[in-house]
Amino acid sequence: MTGTEPAAAYIDTTRPHPARVYDWFLGGKDNYPVDEELGRRITAIDQGALRAARANRAFMHRATRTLAESGVRQFLDIGTGIPTAPNLHQIAQSVTPGARVVYVDNDPIVLAHAHALLRGTPEGATEYVQADARDPSTILERAAPVLDLDRRWPCPSSPCSTSSPTRTAPTTWCRPWSTRWHRAAPWC
Ligand SMILES: C[S@@+](CC[C@H](N)C(=O)[O-])C[C@H]1O[C@@H](n2cnc3c(N)ncnc32)[C@H](O)[C@@H]1O
Repeated sequence: MTGTEPAAAYIDTTRPHPARVYDWFLGGKDNYPVDEELGRRITAIDQGALRAARANRAFMHRATRTLAESGVRQFLDIGTGIPTAPNLHQIAQSVTPGARVVYVDNDPIVLAHAHALLRGTPEGATEYVQADARDPSTILERAAPVLDLDRRWPCPSSPCSTSSPTRTAPTTWCRPWSTRWHRAAPWC
């Protein structure tokens, strides 16, 4: 896995970070005491946040396995988050070692962790693109060396819990965002 852009050098461990708090919800190890503290404060108010994160992750696991077992060999994961095993490529490549996976996230902290942790099978391909989900043209251009997009083979995209487009964004840009994606990649 090579990635496409250098990671930001500075990681601030004095303030909680959304991707690391999510990692703590999942029981991951890539978080700091400030992230755990915020995670605990959130769960003290709403236990559902932790359950939702784990249910979301379990859904991603089931969906990936089902698709891989159905013969899908390539995946575009938008809003990857900090890697927490098993990651999408590990599930897909455990079914089909040659499966090709491109991860996309716009957060340099996620990129730093992804570079360190995301390693695929020798037969398959696992790549990381730092880009914004609202910019499908850039994502498709950078994913093209790995994913067979031209031949229109199935390529499910997994925007699982990509918080800003799906949860917190106002509909004023959420709808244009999905329309843009549909125009750019109607087969995804
Ligand atoms: C809650 S994590 C989801 C992790 C993983 N998909 C899962 O289901 O377990 C959400 C991720 O979406 C990323 N994200 C949010 N808005 C984004 C955007 N506009 N473009 C790319 N990534 C985005 C965040 O950086 C974060 O890493």
